[in-house]
Formats: sequence, C-alpha cells, structure tokens
Amino acid sequence: AAVEKGNYRHFMQKEIFEQPTVVAQTLSSYIRPLEQTVALPQMDFDLSAIDRITIVACGTSFYAGMVAKYWFETFARVPVDIDVASEFRYRDPVLQPGGLALFISQSGETADTLAALRHCKANGQTIAVVVNVPTSSMAREADLLLPTHAGPEIGVASTKAFTCQLAVLAALAAHLALKKGKLSADEEHEIVRHLIEAPAALNAALSHDDDIAAMAHLIAPARDVLYLGRGPDYPLAMEGALKLKEISYIHAEGYASGEMKHGPIALIDESVPVIVLAPSGPLFEKTVSNMHEVMARGGKVVLISDADGIAEAGDGCMATIEMPKVHPLIAPLVYAVPVQLLAYHVAVAKGTDVDQPRNLAKSVTVE
Ligand code: G6P
Repeated sequence: AAVEKGNYRHFMQKEIFEQPTVVAQTLSSYIRPLEQTVALPQMDFDLSAIDRITIVACGTSFYAGMVAKYWFETFARVPVDIDVASEFRYRDPVLQPGGLALFISQSGETADTLAALRHCKANGQTIAVVVNVPTSSMAREADLLLPTHAGPEIGVASTKAFTCQLAVLAALAAHLALKKGKLSADEEHEIVRHLIEAPAALNAALSHDDDIAAMAHLIAPARDVLYLGRGPDYPLAMEGALKLKEISYIHAEGYASGEMKHGPIALIDESVPVIVLAPSGPLFEKTVSNMHEVMARGGKVVLISDADGIAEAGDGCMATIEMPKVHPLIAPLVYAVPVQLLAYHVAVAKGTDVDQPRNLAKSVTVE
C-alpha cells in the first residue's frame, strides 16, 4: 500500500514524529526489556575475536557511524576507523584479517557504500550492515544483517532512519563490549535501561515542536549558520547543519565546539546564528565556554540543552530549546529531534520543497 502523509503537511514532518514509535520498534529486536539485556541476531563468526572496526557510510548514515565510533571505543575498547564511502577505497585502507567492516545505509543501495562493502569483502573483512531496506543489495551481501525498523522513509532528507540506526548501533556496541569482557552484567542492564527510556525522551523532545516553529523566523533570513557540539554531539552538529542545507538551502557548517576558535570564529557576527548542542553531562562546561567565546563576539546563540543546562547557561542567548534531561548515551538520539525540527520549520518558512529538495536524490546510485 502506498505510504500516505495522513494529517501531516510533509512526509519529513510525519517521519520526524514517527521516531518514538519506530525507535521503540527497532529496539524491540535488539534488547530484552524484562531481562535488561541486549539481544543481537545469531552470528556465524566469532565477534569476540574482532579487534578492529571499519565504518563506511554516506550523508546522514555517516554521522550515525561517527556517533557509533564513540560507543564502540568507549564500551568495547575496539579501535574504529571511519570514512565517507566516496573516499574509502581511494586511500587504499589497511584491512587486516580479523576486522569487522560495518556499513550503515537507509536504502542499502548507495553506490559508493556498496562498492566499499565489496572492496572489504574481497579483502577478508567480516561484513555487517545496518540497513532499513531488508531486501537491498547491502542486506543480501552481508555476513551480519542488522535491520532498522523505521518503515519506508519518503522524505529525501533522512530523519527516522538515523535515530533507528543509532538505536541498533548502541545495542551492537554493548553486545561487542560484553563479548570482549569489557562490560559487566550490571553495566549492560544500565545501558539497556537508558535505551528503553529513548522513545519517551523522543516524545518529550517532540513536544517542543511549537517553540521551535515559533523561532524559525530567527534563522530563516540567515545566509550562514554554525552548529557546535562536542563528543558524541559533534556528529549531531554536523547532522544539524546537513539537514538545514538540504532542505532550506542555507549554508551551514557543523563544527567541534573546541575547534571553532581555529577558524570559524572569524565568521562570527550578529548575522550568523550559532546553534549550540550542549546536554548536561561531562562535556557541558567546556561546550558552554566555547559558547561564551561566540557571545563575546556578538554572536547570536540558540542553546539546545536540558532545563539544568538552560538554567546555568541560557542567559544572553537569542533563544533556547529545552530537551528532556537524558543520559549522555541517548543524547544523540534525543538531540536529533530539535535539529530536524529546526531545519524543517526554517524550510517551511522559506517555502522550499521540503520532501523533494532541489538537486538531491533519496538514494544515490552513481559513484
Ligand atoms: C542521500 C540522501 C541522504 C542520505 C544519503 C545516504 O544523499 O539524500 O538523506 O543520508 O544519501 O543514503 P543511505 O541510503 O546510504 O543511508
């Protein structure tokens, strides 16, 4: 049956709002909530022997991979290499036996990612794929298929596939950590408890839709927008910038907060809005100090944080967007929502074709 928009104005909007449901749906295949354990599919290779991971993807899926790198390294202590697929083969990567190559793709058909998969296969890597289309080429060619259950994604700019990818990747990282003996049963239970909280936290994030719509006019006239984040929220800054570029055609860049002073700070004036992603947690203070560097130069800041973060650092910001207070593990899933909604409402304010932005394709099948 054809997928319909229902009461939504655009598919992208509908897909943003589906996230609590589809993330819960996806998680239900990867965790056992009663036992508070992760549950990955049967593998016919020895995961505990994996000593190196290579992640390859494009676009939004690449940013999911960047978040996952933090998780694989922190939880499982397995080193991770990550590349955009269009660059991967051309640097002649060193692929030693015993490596796991992980491909992330909504469509499972992106030409560069598929070519990278075949290159890794020919070079003795075990192939794992996180894909949303279970009948796709990547799904068929994998040793380990990890489906996301986001349902059909129609909007060209990816939204719900991204948060579902993160859900699968978090479970995989926890599973690998267990196999590697780096995670106790208690730590596993704790991770699973945080993941279980994600759908409700996504709902809480979505409840701020009206506030975000009301501030779209602050961003719509801008020519350039900067997004800043640190740690696992740095890829989110890049994803936020990508979403804005894709559908509103405003130039945007995502930067690591601490790297801003090495260049982009030269751009700061009152005409360049700066979106700061700063959930409470171990990295909050440092990100806020970078935010103050922006404000000291007349920059107009939109702070996305939880109530505690906004109480501590919201003064002097042009606007704030409140998120529920969540564990840092699920912050990248939750903070995806405000950056998606912000891009969406700015695009609507500008009157662009949200679901079919110019020059972009849903699935890119040329290299
Ligand atoms: C295109 C789409 C993006 C997507 C990227 C990767 O550029 O417009 O939304 O993130 O391809 O696609 P994939 O299907 O491999 O995740």
